Parts: sequence; C-alpha cells; structure tokens
Amino acid sequence: MKITLSIIKADIGSVGGHIKPSQKLLERVREYVDNNGKGLIDDLYVSHTGDDIALLFSHQNGTGNEDVHKLAWDAFVTGTELAKEQGLYGAGQDLLKDAFSGNVKGMGPAVAEMEFEERPNEPFLFFAADKTDPGAYNLPLFLAFADPMYCPGLMLSPSMAKGFKFTIMDVEYTEGDRIVELNAPEDIYDIAALLRDNERFVVESVHSRTTGEIAVAVSTSRLHNIAGKYTGKDDPVMLARVQGSFPATGEVLSAYSIGHYVAGFMRGSHTGPLMPVRINSAVSYFDGPPIVACHAFCVHKGNFTEPADPFDHPFWDYVREKVARKAMEMREQGFSGVAMLPYSELEYGGIVEKMKRLDKLFKVRS
Ligand code: F6R
Ligand code: MG
Ligand code: MG
Repeated sequence: MKITLSIIKADIGSVGGHIKPSQKLLERVREYVDNNGKGLIDDLYVSHTGDDIALLFSHQNGTGNEDVHKLAWDAFVTGTELAKEQGLYGAGQDLLKDAFSGNVKGMGPAVAEMEFEERPNEPFLFFAADKTDPGAYNLPLFLAFADPMYCPGLMLSPSMAKGFKFTIMDVEYTEGDRIVELNAPEDIYDIAALLRDNERFVVESVHSRTTGEIAVAVSTSRLHNIAGKYTGKDDPVMLARVQGSFPATGEVLSAYSIGHYVAGFMRGSHTGPLMPVRINSAVSYFDGPPIVACHAFCVHKGNFTEPADPFDHPFWDYVREKVARKAMEMREQGFSGVAMLPYSELEYGGIVEKMKRLDKLFKVRS
C-alpha cells in the first residue's frame, strides 16, 4: 500500500511568551482535523515542541496535496481564533498570508512530506525542533547517513553498502528550489563542504542508493524569506524512515548526543547547543536552548501506533546536562563573537539600523 506521511507545523500562539501552546489550543486544532479530515486522512497525531504545534498525517493523496494542506491551514486558522480569544502570545504568528493558495509552502507553516510503498513493518521517526532552523539537522543527518563512526550499519549491513543520496537545497535562493544531488560515500567531502554552512545549505531529502527509496524529508522553509522580516525562526520538522535498508533508530539518534551548536536561541539571533528533549517539551533558559524532540512510530496500513519517546531515557538526562553546560559556556560571552549570529542572520533589524547610523559617524583620520 502506498502511503503519504505529512508533517505540517506552525506557531499560532503560546502561553507565557514563546514557551508552549495552551492545552485548549492543541485540543481545538486536533478537534478541527478530527471533524473535517474524514475520508481525506487515515490517521493524525498532534504534538507540540516549544511553541510549535505539529500535525502528523497519514493519508493516500501524495505530497503537496491541496486538500491535506488546506485541512492543516484551516485547523491553524481555527486555532488562531481560539488563541486570540485566550489572549495567547503571538496568536497566528506563522500564518503569514491571508488566504490559502493551494499549498502551505511559502505561507509560513513548515512542511515535511514523503510518499512511499509501506513495508510490512514500517518504523519511522518524526523530529520537531524549536528555536532553531532547518540546518540544525545537517550534521546529525550527515553522521547518520554518511559516517560509519556514527552509523556502523554503513559498514555492517549489505543493504546499506551502496550508501545514500543527499539532496541539498540552497535556501538563500528565493526564485525557486535550487538543489544539488550528491552521493555518499564518494562525494562526502563535497557534501561536508556544503553542509558546514547550516544557514545556506540544508539537507532536503535523503534516498537509499540500494533501493532508491526515500529515507528522509526535512522542512526547508525560511520564514524571513517569505515575510521579508523576522517573524520567528523556522523551527524545522523532519521525517526519517529507519531499520532494514535504512539506519537503525539508534544510529539516527546517535549524533544528537553531541548537542552541536546551532543557530537560533534567544530572538533567533544566537548560537546555542541543540538539546534532545521529551515529546511535548517547552523552552525556558534564554528562550531556549534550541530543542529537538523525536517521536518514534510504526505505521501499518496508514494507521499509527502510539509514539515511543526515545529521548525520554536516563541516557539523555546525562546528555541534557552536558548540553546545558555547553549552553551556559556559550552564554557567558553574551553578544561577543560566535555567541551571536553573523550580521546577515541577525533578526529584528535593530543592528542594521544601528550600523547605518553609526556608519555616518565614522571619519577617516588624515
Ligand atoms: C526565538 C523567539 C523568542 C523571541 C523573543 C522576543 O525564536 O521566538 O526568543 O524572539 O522572546 O519575542 P517578541 O519579539 O515577540 O517580544
Ligand atoms: Mg513563537
Ligand atoms: Mg517556535
């Protein structure tokens, strides 16, 4: 059976700052899809990561389906009405356009989708991150799909011996989708050369070179490209199929033990370590740190099991402590150097204005 998994996520308002949505808001969005998705979708799972609500759909309509996207958009619009009634902060924040126009891509919500022939056993992971951008997945994906130090399956499993194809997008290009396809292992130096720049080059998808099947889909939108100004960081979602001819769940998770530094954190303008957290976690310290949650499912004939929560394990408490330490070490230097993002990535426009004013005050000494 051919199925489509679609994650569509948006920040439509939150409690106490950019922390987490209200319980009522989550319920309203879920209720809307339950009441209006019959005959269109096979299953639904709703969760939040920080202030973002993600809808995971299983359906049989392919990727980019107008009806599925409209269902999600309308659920977020309905939720926004409640968020306004409740006085939630940033109500409707990620709904950047007034009217739905066929596909939520380019309208604010983030989307990750894949269509595939369901295996008899189909385990997959749904990741959601807050206070960071899609490049946050670059390093964990490189290590899981191209580096035997993190993914021994690349050495040990004959079904992974041919490696994986990375489709990488230049997210600075706004006229269309500018992409390049590169193969691991033979192109890994080129892949690394692109993926080191998390703000410009982002893994969009990964495919098995053994079977040709899709393994990974990442949301690649950049909100400030759409809005022309800061409206929140892009808070990316990702789907990853696991096991068999794909890396094992634990191999995909392994690189999250690093707590690598990513862009985002306070005001979308800082560098902070990515902390793996439990499903339905909020943010806190310095509006962060940047967080990532993982929901591990099986899907069968289009129906989801309940999710397992792989980051809800004593091992990850140890990692979280390390990541908290890394966050504080970076925060000790405040605005200085790498603690804040480079000029082109600073949000809010305040620095640009200051630099323009200051520029006029400079004199060249004779
Ligand atoms: C980062 C984020 C927050 C806000 C900050 C200020 O992605 O959402 O750190 O940037 O709380 O928020 P505003 O501008 O809404 O007062
Ligand atoms: Mg927000
Ligand atoms: Mg968010």
